[in-house]
Amino acid sequence: MKILAIAGSKNPEGKTSLCVMSFFLEIAKEHQCETILLTEKKLELCRQCDFNGWGLCRTEGRCVIEDDFEKIVNRIRKADAVVFFTPVYFGDMSESIKCFLDRLRRITRHPQGKNGIYEKPTIGVCVAGGGGGGAVSCCFFMERVLATCGFSVEDMIPCRRQNLSLKSSILTSTGKWFVQQLSLENPEGRNG
Ligand SMILES: Cc1cc2nc3c(=O)[nH]c(=O)nc-3n(C[C@H](O)[C@H](O)[C@H](O)COP(=O)(O)O)c2cc1C
Repeated sequence: MKILAIAGSKNPEGKTSLCVMSFFLEIAKEHQCETILLTEKKLELCRQCDFNGWGLCRTEGRCVIEDDFEKIVNRIRKADAVVFFTPVYFGDMSESIKCFLDRLRRITRHPQGKNGIYEKPTIGVCVAGGGGGGAVSCCFFMERVLATCGFSVEDMIPCRRQNLSLKSSILTSTGKWFVQQLSLENPEGRNG
């Protein structure tokens, strides 16, 4: 199985990245586990191209902006499953993951854009590493946008600084459970 983690943190050694590592801990040997740090990518804000607010996203299922967006979307298309990780900022997702998902939900209005996204198994993880508040509201916002994109949202996991060691072990178990489920549903994986 190919599992893609998409993380919206700036810090490759921070709490969000720790959660990615925990998720992959017991599955990385047998499965292809890859991580994209969105803050390392070139991602512009949606331009709301036309006066009606839409653009090529609506008519062709793609984005007019030539940056890393399409490459990331194609990596999602090739994966068997995706896990989105965000640090909690103001009880919500980080700006980089919001920017990416804002554009993804637009292109997935069109059948071409839905390709390889629709019903793809997905988990969301929201990491409140400051005071610890806002992880649940962040999960709420993230689940809504992931569902709008058409993903099959299998779980949302709120984590907070105070329970990070507990949640790390839950993430490791969830990673194992996730690939078991995927293997039951599709023993060959997407790429045979
Ligand atoms: C703009 C901003 C807003 C934040 N809002 C929250 C918050 O609502 N709740 C919380 O617990 N931590 C909050 N934090 C702290 C981050 O969640 C914390 O630093 C987190 O560990 C960052 O992830 P990282 O360790 O992967 O960098 C905020 C941090 C920033 C920069």
